[in-house]
Amino acid sequence: MTFDRSLKIAPSILSADFADFGREIAAIEAEGADWVHVDVMDGHFVPNLTFGAALCKAIRRHITTVMDVHLMIAPVDPYIEAFADAGADILTAHLEAGPHSHRTLQAIRASGCRAGLALNPGTPAAAAAPLLDLCDLVCVMTVNPGFGGQSFLDMTAKIAELRALIGDRAIHIEVDGGVTPETAPRVVAAGADVLVAGSAVFKGGSVDNPAPYGANIRAIRDAAGNATRAA
Ligand code: DX5
Ligand code: ZN
Repeated sequence: MTFDRSLKIAPSILSADFADFGREIAAIEAEGADWVHVDVMDGHFVPNLTFGAALCKAIRRHITTVMDVHLMIAPVDPYIEAFADAGADILTAHLEAGPHSHRTLQAIRASGCRAGLALNPGTPAAAAAPLLDLCDLVCVMTVNPGFGGQSFLDMTAKIAELRALIGDRAIHIEVDGGVTPETAPRVVAAGADVLVAGSAVFKGGSVDNPAPYGANIRAIRDAAGNATRAA
């Protein structure tokens, strides 16, 4: 994985057919996905359950782009090795998941993965500042994590603040939740370069009719491309 700040669309398989992840991943990659976003939820840190490291390992061989694993679990540290072994390229943990985010980010990097730090809507950008040198990605949640299909919460001021804090460091700013062709330009203008989108990518399509996935990805990319990018 080489770093660049070009726009990347990362469909979340939370909105895919859970009985057909392999074909769903092939379909979104063929239709233009840059990364594949994988939402791991534990029913404790967030009020929903999805799947764990074994499922991630099983779907890994279907991913030819980047496996972007979003851990909505607490604690995180006991599971890092398992998700690294599953083949994650990026492992993102929440700042709110425990008292030792610094240690967690160190452990993620030591496992060989890129390290991501996710911020809930109520967490300020300044909380991430002391941790940025340990981050390859900061994920700004624009919904309260736990479910797909929620309404976008405006975090553009936080994104702009993070963009300024990051400066020229090689750190992605990812935005997750409620991303659509309407909301994408605002977050890209504020400084985001990775857009996670679940319902807005998968709506209207299926593995047997994947063309809408491509149209949906292009609609987000085109709308975001028209935004004035933050430096
Ligand atoms: C929410 C997840 C998101 C979710 C986004 O907790 O982290 O990745 O799938 O879904 P949409 O794009 O439908 O808001
Ligand atoms: Zn996510």
